[in-house]
Amino acid sequence: MENGELTKRLAVRLRVIDSRDAGKLARKFEYPTKPIYLPLQILIYSYLYESDLVNSKRPLKAVLSGQRNTEVPLWLMRQAGRYLPEYRALRSKKGGFLELVYDSEAAVTVTRQPIERFGFDGAILFSDILVIAHALGLELWFEEGEGPRLAPRLIDGGFEGLIAQPQRLDPIYATVAQLRRELPDATTLLGFAGSPWTVASYMLNGRGSKDQNEARRYAYAHPAALGAVIAAVEALTITYLLGQIAAGADVIQLFESWSGNLSPAQFEKWVVSPNARIVAALRTKHPDVPVICFPKGAGGKLAHFVAAVKPSAIGLDETVDPIWAAAVLPKDLPVQGNLDPLALLAGGDSMSEAVATILQAFADRPHVFNLGHGILPETPISHVEQLVKMVRAFRC
Ligand code: CP3
Repeated sequence: MENGELTKRLAVRLRVIDSRDAGKLARKFEYPTKPIYLPLQILIYSYLYESDLVNSKRPLKAVLSGQRNTEVPLWLMRQAGRYLPEYRALRSKKGGFLELVYDSEAAVTVTRQPIERFGFDGAILFSDILVIAHALGLELWFEEGEGPRLAPRLIDGGFEGLIAQPQRLDPIYATVAQLRRELPDATTLLGFAGSPWTVASYMLNGRGSKDQNEARRYAYAHPAALGAVIAAVEALTITYLLGQIAAGADVIQLFESWSGNLSPAQFEKWVVSPNARIVAALRTKHPDVPVICFPKGAGGKLAHFVAAVKPSAIGLDETVDPIWAAAVLPKDLPVQGNLDPLALLAGGDSMSEAVATILQAFADRPHVFNLGHGILPETPISHVEQLVKMVRAFRC
């Protein structure tokens, strides 16, 4: 049997779709190409460097791992949601948002909807950051047209009396596993969690708020009590994310949505430290799984956040000037973002200009196109189609 044929058979046995992957791998590690040893060596290297093979199949994961590609991969935060008629239809059939989250079959369907419609490079698990609060024993529900509610409010005390219910997360691991089986091979599966401060701010106040005043005041007045809440969220979040990775998540994103209005010292204590510990814990066990941190509103503290937390990639919100970010962030750090969701909603020339500015600013570093925050429910589908077209046409 000639060498090429052997390589091909091996590639198939390793579930490598394309035998060129194996050839690429052979060249990359520059080992002697004596025909008789080649297949054996490919076998060994394939096991050792499986992530290289996965990366070559999944462009989004590759870019988040630091690779520079000529094409810019893209996905959108909240890409599965109310702007899609197929989402609204399934949600009304199932009765509500949490009914979708905890029903694996439904959550898989919803996660796949934007992939099937737009062909995004990444599929983000359909769930919510507040399932961690639910698994810590709080009650969780969504008020129609308003948002999440949690009880009891931890500001009123009672945290020690909670009984953790980690089994509430089980359906979510099942969703991840089913997704990895069903998604196209080239689609990167993103798992996620909220960062501890953001999740804790909801747990303290029992609901969202514009300024997190209650939670921020509590942080000054009761640092030890908040420390205990953060520690509990952090520990379960690490278990939860390791569970998502074990179930098949390729990449993890940490949402720190409420990091924008903390003083520098509070930011250090409640945002930088917990995010750094989570990133380190995941990296120790899974060095090949990129972790994107999204410290929304961090602004001028971004460079410090990146240096201290050491995420694999950084998500930028829409208030960050891409030209500034490109200048101050380390040259090889993958960035993700950061079109204003309102620019996408408005569409037209101003959207096109904003998209072009972002693509240009990040053209010489690993860049994943995304919004600066979640897509808005009123966003016209035709604008998303236009955006996808623009990003797909761009070459770095
Ligand atoms: O990005 C995705 O498509 C994945 C799914 C996802 C949801 N929420 C689904 C969702 C993700 C990653 C989140 C994260 C999340 N949830 C955050 C962090 C990111 C951010 O937006 O700042 C926060 C703060 C939450 C908490 C939360 N969930 C709020 C405040 C709300 C109400 C506001 C709203 O948009 O309705 C939710 C509900 C929610 N989470 C919906 C979806 C699709 C809407 C549910 C519905 O009514 O159908």
